[in-house]
Amino acid sequence: MTCVPSAISAAHGTLCAYVFGMKPFTRMPARQLLCLFVAVAAVISACSSGSENAASSGTKTVPAAAVPAPTTAWERAGQVTLPARKGTDMPGLHNVFVLSKNIISGSEPHGREGLASVAKLGVKTVISVDGQVPDAEEARALGMRYVHLPIQYKQIAQDEWMALTKTFRECTPPFYVHCFHGQHRGPTAAAVGRRTLDAANAEQAIAEMRHWMGTAQMYEGLYSTILTHAVPSASSTAAFTFAFPEAQRPDGIAEHMTHIARAHDALKALNKLGWKADAEHPDLDAGNEARKLVAQMDANWAQDAEPLLAGLADEQRTATTAAHALLQSLEKKDLAAASAAFLRVDSSCKACHQQFRNH
Ligand code: HEC
Repeated sequence: MTCVPSAISAAHGTLCAYVFGMKPFTRMPARQLLCLFVAVAAVISACSSGSENAASSGTKTVPAAAVPAPTTAWERAGQVTLPARKGTDMPGLHNVFVLSKNIISGSEPHGREGLASVAKLGVKTVISVDGQVPDAEEARALGMRYVHLPIQYKQIAQDEWMALTKTFRECTPPFYVHCFHGQHRGPTAAAVGRRTLDAANAEQAIAEMRHWMGTAQMYEGLYSTILTHAVPSASSTAAFTFAFPEAQRPDGIAEHMTHIARAHDALKALNKLGWKADAEHPDLDAGNEARKLVAQMDANWAQDAEPLLAGLADEQRTATTAAHALLQSLEKKDLAAASAAFLRVDSSCKACHQQFRNH
């Protein structure tokens, strides 16, 4: 099974025979050693009998290790210091971070414009870890190849970890890695690439997720996957079977969620504008988006979920009631009530995810 699309494959001859960029991006061990050295030197100087501090206090010295040991991967990430960085926007893209010459993290490309921006970055392979089926054809027309590998918010499963590392090894760099907004799942998959292709250590990779892309603390499962999984050997990824699908159709709840999420996003932006049409997206209509949301919320996905989860249907009912209230308020042009209903929709998303999706 080869990753490279036929046009690129012909030019390359043998499959993906590129040399990995093995140069470490940032050598954290060296930096940590330096910090340790500075800390030890500080303690020695504070404790030495000749020092002013010790002489003046004349009592017990405060232990240097007052900071508690991290208990979560997210906390571990917080202990690594990185220079501040912000994501950039490009036409049809947001949250773009060029992490190395191999790996770029960012949002889902919006339409042709977004994919053209990705192509402009020199990208050869686009990895989507979002549920929505990507526009692989449009990407191909721009000389890029999609690999669609949806992951969940809980963690990256072992077979997904293998498939991702295989993709990074056998497809053509540079890679653009995205989910929906480029904040949680996409950066986690990009971290797999940083570890696999750039030899970034796990601490560096999770620190980039936290400090740069802003992956939320509640997705501890994503952080700990990166921290605890070893990068598999080249021979094991070579032996692993993965067909590099350009598109995988989501089913069940995930399919409804891809539509719900996009309607919710549009409504969020319109709510911010006081429900006035968005100058940048004049085609977006609040009523239309609320109707899409209602249609998806009305479908029977919680009752049909496999396995049947206790409480899921109740959460869906709460969300559905809020979505109907939003639509009715918009139809009555009661904009204050619409904003209040939107907040209820928003908290229903969070409440259900907290219980049924994130852990
Ligand atoms: C009643 C529960 C419930 C409600 C309400 C709910 N979700 Fe979800 N959502 C889920 C579950 C469960 C999943 C995980 C589905 C899976 O991976 O199979 C999910 C997944 C998602 C995903 C990931 C889709 C993907 O790419 O795989 C997004 C995005 C999302 N939800 C957005 C929203 C938004 C926005 C709202 C509110 C407007 C919302 N959800 C309301 C339960 C819910």
